[in-house]
Amino acid sequence: MATKLFLVLIICVNIVIINVASGVEARPRAFFVFGDSLVDNGNNNYLLTTARADSPPYGIDFPTRTPTGRFSNGYNIPDFISMRLGAESPLPYLSPEFKGEKLLVGANFASAGVGILNDTGVQFLNITRMYRQLEYFEEYQRRLSGLIGISKTKRLVRHALILITVGGNDFVNNYYLVSPSARSRQYPLPQYVRLLIFEYRKILQKLYEMGGRRVIVTGTGPLGCAPAEMAMRSSDGKCSRDLQRAASLYNPRLRRMLTLLNNRIRNHVFIAANTALMHHDFINDPTSFGFTTSKVACCGQGPYNGIGVCSPSSNLCNDRSLFVYWDPFHPTERANRMIVEKIFSGSTIYMNPMNLSTILALDDTP
Ligand SMILES: *[C@@H]1O[C@H](CO)[C@@H](O)[C@H](O)[C@H]1NC(C)=O
Ligand SMILES: *[C@@H]1O[C@H](CO)[C@@H](O)[C@H](O)[C@H]1NC(C)=O
Ligand SMILES: *[C@@H]1O[C@H](CO)[C@@H](O)[C@H](O)[C@H]1NC(C)=O
Repeated sequence: MATKLFLVLIICVNIVIINVASGVEARPRAFFVFGDSLVDNGNNNYLLTTARADSPPYGIDFPTRTPTGRFSNGYNIPDFISMRLGAESPLPYLSPEFKGEKLLVGANFASAGVGILNDTGVQFLNITRMYRQLEYFEEYQRRLSGLIGISKTKRLVRHALILITVGGNDFVNNYYLVSPSARSRQYPLPQYVRLLIFEYRKILQKLYEMGGRRVIVTGTGPLGCAPAEMAMRSSDGKCSRDLQRAASLYNPRLRRMLTLLNNRIRNHVFIAANTALMHHDFINDPTSFGFTTSKVACCGQGPYNGIGVCSPSSNLCNDRSLFVYWDPFHPTERANRMIVEKIFSGSTIYMNPMNLSTILALDDTP
């Protein structure tokens, strides 16, 4: 009796493994997302943190018209990348629905509020810091191996697309959070930038060791032009000089580090996405992109709608598609869509050494 049951169990388990595994080849490539609120799609809903987007009007333009945890009125950057891959969006890793076949789609490990450094975002309490996101990626691979075996798991990860967006919070929610901050007393800006690049390199190296072979790495946006910084730091309507200086020191160093890493690996693993330039285009000339303003957030309060957080009692614009910024820090769905268009087909000044359409064409050629 016991043996019979055992046999039945083995057969059942086998069927599950075969069913899940046979789906691997036919599927779009898997997609993994790491980083902060620009790419979090709901992990923080499951954490005890103040960094969350789980109340209206977040999600007002999402298909369900409800908040999802994305810091957007609708879709965010990873969603639009998934659409380009012809795939559904990977679930937040911490979601209870993340199991079984859903693992084959990939996973989103991002957590709003995090930075490259562990001490970034301490004010948000329990968030999933970068080293922890990498631990979850390891755990994910073990879980997937249990479903489809080790070699198929390795292949899935090597063939996957990875997006990592982190670094902005190390400035706005650490170095420049208060004046003077502990970090700004410890390091002048150029040395702080050097520390960030040094620590970021370790994170990327780890991703490579864990099997990542196509990793899109975004720089920071024009931090000083976000409505929050305009409200706090700008008296003349110009972007905050300190934060613009930080971004202009950080972004070129990040690109250089990625080039050096690729040279060492002798492969185009890390792809630099110049999100600062993409945003800069909107900010220089919003109307040519169909925006009426790039300075005022759609949802918020105070000057530029840049004070505090977007909540049910905030001012809310009528037409979200006319705004670059949805809340004091995050782009609208429409701006996100346009950023991903550049990621997909931008020239080398936007995507270096190549854009996503080229990556897909290269990797899908047998
Ligand atoms: C961040 O914290 C983790 C876990 O405690 C540790 O392994 C890692 O070295 C820390 N990173 C830095 C830059 O301090
Ligand atoms: C933070 O959240 C994680 C996941 O829910 C949990 O395992 C951990 O114990 C929490 N840590 C703290 C300090 O609350
Ligand atoms: C980027 O994508 C477009 C359209 O998909 C393509 O024509 C172009 O050559 C690509 N540019 C680079 C630099 O890879």
